[in-house]
Amino acid sequence: MIKIRKATPEDLHLIISISNDELGQGYFEDISKIIADNYSHILVADYNEKEIVGFIYFYTWATQFEGNSVQSGFKQQGAVLKTMAVSAKYQNKGYGSQLLKHAIDSIKNQEIKNITGVAWKNPKGQTNVEHPLLKLGFKKEREIENFWYKDSVEKEFDCPICGNPCLCTAEIYQLHLD
Ligand SMILES: CC(C)(COP(=O)(O)OP(=O)(O)OC[C@H]1O[C@@H](n2cnc3c(N)ncnc32)[C@H](O)[C@@H]1OP(=O)(O)O)[C@@H](O)C(=O)NCCC(=O)NCCS
Repeated sequence: MIKIRKATPEDLHLIISISNDELGQGYFEDISKIIADNYSHILVADYNEKEIVGFIYFYTWATQFEGNSVQSGFKQQGAVLKTMAVSAKYQNKGYGSQLLKHAIDSIKNQEIKNITGVAWKNPKGQTNVEHPLLKLGFKKEREIENFWYKDSVEKEFDCPICGNPCLCTAEIYQLHLD
């Protein structure tokens, strides 16, 4: 049975191993900083309480307008679903969708009204997370070419499709919550 729960420091090596296989060697290196940060969150799919089969990473942001402008006193906040992965042998069993749904529920609890989803579109034109996002009500807004190019050069990670540098495109999705 699958349980979706918050990641703990003990899960880090398994999360990194899934990330290396599915998202690219070296992509998710600064994960311990993410776990320690109050605005960043990682949920894991725990299979029978003994194996982590997938994860989702999202963060929340807030801007408080200061000073003496027309926006002063207003606060804007949102959340970004940054990335997710499920181990190859567990894909297409609904675990990715469960991770997404739990992430959305936990964001809703923080009274955030807008969620941005970043989806990886590889040079073959595949966007693996497109169906799960659309099923949950996200709408595609735009594409950003070479989204991971700079990151891949700076952090020297290898995209599983293009190697280094990464030439993949990001598709940006939005979900408005009421
Ligand atoms: C994307 C991913 C997280 C989805 O996890 P999952 O557990 O397989 O997801 P689910 O079983 O809930 O849903 C699978 C859906 O994705 C679709 N899908 C999976 N791979 C796909 C592909 N290569 N092309 C198109 N659709 C694909 C399936 O058709 C299915 O859609 P459906 O429910 O409408 O039939 C997983 O495939 C994965 O880790 N892929 C490699 C890494 C990746 O692309 N991560 C996303 C980065 S933003």
